[in-house]
Amino acid sequence: MDRSSISRLPLRNRPFRRAVRLRMPTLAIPTIPLWQDLNVPRFPTAQLPSATDVLIVGGGITGLTAALLLKRAGKRVVVCEKRRIGAGESGHTSAHLTYVTDETLVTLIDRFGREAAERAWRGGRLAIDLIESNVESLRIECDFRRVPGFLFASMDGERDEAGALRREADAAAALGFAARFVERGPVLSRPAVMYADQAVFHPVAYIAALARAVHGDGSLVCEDAEVTGFEEEPRRARVNGTTIGFDHVVIATHVPLIGLRSMLGATFFQTKLYPYSTYVVGARIPRGQLAPGLYSDTAEPYHYLRIHETPEGRYAIFGAADHKTGKAEDTESRFREVERVLHRILPEATVDRRWSGQVIETNDGLPYIGFTAERQFVGTGYAGNGLTFGTLAGIMARDAVLDERNPWQEILDPGRKTIAGGLGTLVRENLDYPYHLIIDRLREDRRSSADDIAPGDGRVIRLDGRHIACHRTEAGEVKMLDAVCTHMGCLVRFNKAERSWDCPCHGSRFTVDGDVIGGPAEEALERI
Ligand SMILES: Cc1cc2nc3c(=O)[nH]c(=O)nc-3n(C[C@H](O)[C@H](O)[C@H](O)COP(=O)(O)OP(=O)(O)OC[C@H]3O[C@@H](n4cnc5c(N)ncnc54)[C@H](O)[C@@H]3O)c2cc1C
Ligand code: FES
Repeated sequence: MDRSSISRLPLRNRPFRRAVRLRMPTLAIPTIPLWQDLNVPRFPTAQLPSATDVLIVGGGITGLTAALLLKRAGKRVVVCEKRRIGAGESGHTSAHLTYVTDETLVTLIDRFGREAAERAWRGGRLAIDLIESNVESLRIECDFRRVPGFLFASMDGERDEAGALRREADAAAALGFAARFVERGPVLSRPAVMYADQAVFHPVAYIAALARAVHGDGSLVCEDAEVTGFEEEPRRARVNGTTIGFDHVVIATHVPLIGLRSMLGATFFQTKLYPYSTYVVGARIPRGQLAPGLYSDTAEPYHYLRIHETPEGRYAIFGAADHKTGKAEDTESRFREVERVLHRILPEATVDRRWSGQVIETNDGLPYIGFTAERQFVGTGYAGNGLTFGTLAGIMARDAVLDERNPWQEILDPGRKTIAGGLGTLVRENLDYPYHLIIDRLREDRRSSADDIAPGDGRVIRLDGRHIACHRTEAGEVKMLDAVCTHMGCLVRFNKAERSWDCPCHGSRFTVDGDVIGGPAEEALERI
């Protein structure tokens, strides 16, 4: 997640690092997101109907918003979720509800024009309003609250950004958004833009309530229901050894499945999507230290902080240290980096959580939402705004199925042409594939064996001429998988922070048992 147009200072060697008090995280800190503590009722795999009006693949905010709106419009929907509702990125988020995009408004205006930039932000504002209205109409207990948001000058540099932030505030105000420049915002005492009427909520409580409202009266929500393939004539999907026919399909899997399009088309689409890993810590803070709100800055990658009230006191969720998925050697050090910066801002914070997840960036800074094949709708590439853009994708999926027009279908069309501003990114981000495909095989460590791997760690070793992804569990059990990514053949790498195998080429992720956590790979790694 970056706001590159305001600050291009490198994250390393920044002045504040000298002033930081070193506190190493306690090893016993849970790595399960705060939101996953909630006891959500199960939606067991039922007998699937032979056909439905709309099949929705993925039980995150995109899929369930689409499902709810389509059911309200009179459609029968079936939501297939391969794990649990909210188990994906919607359950790993830091849950800022904001229309302030990762890409600055000034950049969006330069790149797409005033009208398109205004529409993108208006879509985010509409999404927050829809969430609020669902919370009221379905009486969802998810701590939804309106709070202000602040975009600060970078914490990492001494560069004078007041002028750029003032322009950002003026651009937003001119387009009708409640924004103003402040010389010294709270917490960081730096120049900032203040945006009124942003919001916070508990994402999993919200999503679970949507699922409850969808389930029943001819519609279904099924967990442990993995869609493993599609057939064109007749249109149907394979799920858990059976098939389900559909008129429309909504692919809401964060990184899209290939679905009904050709492998070539899907591969080309993939060149416009870039998965990044991002790291957060959760911490209790003394009451009165900071008002509830959303805080972020213009560093690259940027820092993001959310303060909210809990019955036990105030709680901070702080994130940063993004890197392209599969590219960092020492993922655990990212948590230490995030924790160090948090203690610089809030020295009294007591960290009791940490987790990480993926955001998908695009080549031009806006998401891809719309049809990618006949009656096949996709929502992806939301960057750090997936809760609002995912909700907007739900609104757009409803309109697409009902054949109704909306103000976003051209600007967010997955088939839009790559504009000049995005071309450099497209080329730069796609150099990883040829590089890692060749270089990682040349750099392999031929001497190491499974015996060298410590409990909790993993490494790719050579065995009988094959590349083996070898992980030793905390209990000492050794798990071996074919290390060749099932997407396009790069070698996976062990991610110690998340206990997963990640691919540096296009960001596919696998569990230590080989199952796909996130695409573009759709097939598990072969177990040895
Ligand atoms: C640390 C972090 C902080 C973030 N902070 C913010 C923030 O503050 N504000 C914000 O707006 N956004 C934020 N985001 C981004 C946001 O959380 C995501 O973009 C958003 O939740 C994506 O929602 P989704 O429904 O599209 O995908 P997901 O929630 O990932 O849902 C996709 C679902 O599809 C399922 N699935 C995949 N393949 C299949 C298959 N073959 N069959 C069936 N099911 C399948 C998965 O199991 C998953 O549950 C953050 C993300 C992270 C990781
Ligand atoms: S080769 Fe594409 S994600 Fe692994």
